[in-house]
Amino acid sequence: MSAFVVAIDGPAAAGKGTLARRLAEAFDFAYLDTGSLYRAVALALLRAGNPQPTEAQAATAAAALDLGLTGDAALRDEATGNLASVVAAMPRVRTALLGLQRDVAVNPPGGKAGVILDGRDIGTVIYPEAPVKLFLTASVDARAARRYLELVDKGVRADLDQIRAEIAARDARDAGRATAPLKAADDAYLLDTSNLGIEDVFAKAKTIIEKAR
Ligand code: C5P
Repeated sequence: MSAFVVAIDGPAAAGKGTLARRLAEAFDFAYLDTGSLYRAVALALLRAGNPQPTEAQAATAAAALDLGLTGDAALRDEATGNLASVVAAMPRVRTALLGLQRDVAVNPPGGKAGVILDGRDIGTVIYPEAPVKLFLTASVDARAARRYLELVDKGVRADLDQIRAEIAARDARDAGRATAPLKAADDAYLLDTSNLGIEDVFAKAKTIIEKAR
């Protein structure tokens, strides 16, 4: 029996990770945060002293990806996220990371019956066969405010205007790139989380999955 795959796509800071973790727990599914793969590639390049890699260099880093880096604290830094969105626009980097993502969809780790993948192109490119595709959005203001509060909560000094500008720039890069741009699959459920709390989003997504299983 093939694994039950849930694809969650959407822009930065829309709440994909929080939702994916909650759903994985509720259904006892595996979870893959595919953004962490692009972030790990970026982090490897930054650590190698190469903040402006060519496509060939970034593709080499992606092919040699150290999955241990996906657990590194520096993965969440804005600098890592920004370089991640630059290397993610490079077709050869995306190709280098494709097989790994498909493998997780077909054979979820831990022998789980299902898996949740979150990213930008899961429903459109990585696993269009997914029986449930969710596309999570929220206004730039709502996402910037969330990210700001997260940082403040962690005791990190943050500037709301700067965060808003970075999110808008990341949106433009993710949606405007030629290869696997951020967009909702035709058959994705659109969930706008601007005015919804995590509990409401979770309840809606849970119902959608239960109906499809
Ligand atoms: O989701 P997260 O912010 O961690 O992703 C970091 C960057 O990786 C994104 O800005 C996006 O450019 C890229 N990404 C992608 N495709 C995915 C997941 C992430 O292009 N499936």
